[in-house]
Amino acid sequence: MLSFTRSFSTSRRALVKVAVLGASGGIGQPLSMLLKLNPLVTELSLYDINHTPGVAADLSHIDRNSFTKSAKGPDQLKAALTGMEVVVIPAGVPRKPGMTRDDLFSSNASIVRDLVDAVGNYCPKAIIAIVTNPVNSCVPVAAEMLKKRGVYDPKKLFGITTLDLIRASTFVGELKGIDPMLIQVPVICGHSGETIVPVMSQCKPKIKLTDSEICDLTKRIQNAGTEVVKLKAGAGSATLAMAFAGSRMVDAIMRGIKGQSNVIECSFVEYNYEEAQYFSTPILLGPNGIEKNLGLPKLSKLERELLKIAIPILKKNIKKGEDFVLT
Ligand code: NAI
Repeated sequence: MLSFTRSFSTSRRALVKVAVLGASGGIGQPLSMLLKLNPLVTELSLYDINHTPGVAADLSHIDRNSFTKSAKGPDQLKAALTGMEVVVIPAGVPRKPGMTRDDLFSSNASIVRDLVDAVGNYCPKAIIAIVTNPVNSCVPVAAEMLKKRGVYDPKKLFGITTLDLIRASTFVGELKGIDPMLIQVPVICGHSGETIVPVMSQCKPKIKLTDSEICDLTKRIQNAGTEVVKLKAGAGSATLAMAFAGSRMVDAIMRGIKGQSNVIECSFVEYNYEEAQYFSTPILLGPNGIEKNLGLPKLSKLERELLKIAIPILKKNIKKGEDFVLT
């Protein structure tokens, strides 16, 4: 039976090769584990500047039919990236109490710039999914870097905002006593404070919420990351829920690659809305990344007001990322 299973699974080539850059971190490790458990992954390439040989050896003992390899330090980036189809990037410094995501820019922008440059060099056709904060600025950093290399494909660059979506489902579910897995709330615009705009009016299934419930839920979703940072008291930001959210997004990307129909997730991608060049909207995923950007859902008056507050902040975040590479 064992040998049957093994020989049956030699169709590995039809599956997906995924690299995690920042694989030894608080997010990187559980995210890598969830990807190791995903049957769509055929090869898992773990890269970090620290500890990857041990993390990869540990994960490689899990009895799944995928190959796990490790690379440590910039000299091994070529080996980590060559042949990869999806690259997830959770490398970088997390928040400490009192910090905003924007405060991370000075440490993390250069990490994202250099890693994305290597992706552009060694696996230019890969789909890139960025976890590193501030996502609102790091995605433009990545885009400008790929443009510099002449390999930018806007269909293949994603900022992961899935944590906002799972939080929205959880908090609505808690409030109404409904299984959160049955609830979907689109969350649009960006991934920091007021740029996180939950679209409660399009919640599926339709759930009756009062204006004050919507306001409270919106504030909680916008500040949920900060809630975790405070409670972790200096030991970092969300890691476990983020790893789960990241694995859901990468799973969706891989199902798109495999040609599964109707795979939709919200993500922060190139999309011009009111002159903000990047924007999180629902995306239909396909073999080459974005199959179709489904655009903004219908918005209530309150949601349009939230966007009015968010757009100037988002535009500033985007410009900061672009200027970092261009000047
Ligand atoms: P962590 O400090 O636990 O791990 C970061 C890892 O990145 C470390 O293993 C470190 O060695 C590695 N690293 C640093 N520089 C690197 C480089 N040049 N190349 C490769 N690896 C490098 O941090 P944690 O908690 O895993 O957070 C990672 C990032 O994810 C942070 O920027 C954080 O703000 C962000 N984040 C994003 C969320 C989202 O919803 N998109 C949610 C939560 C955190």
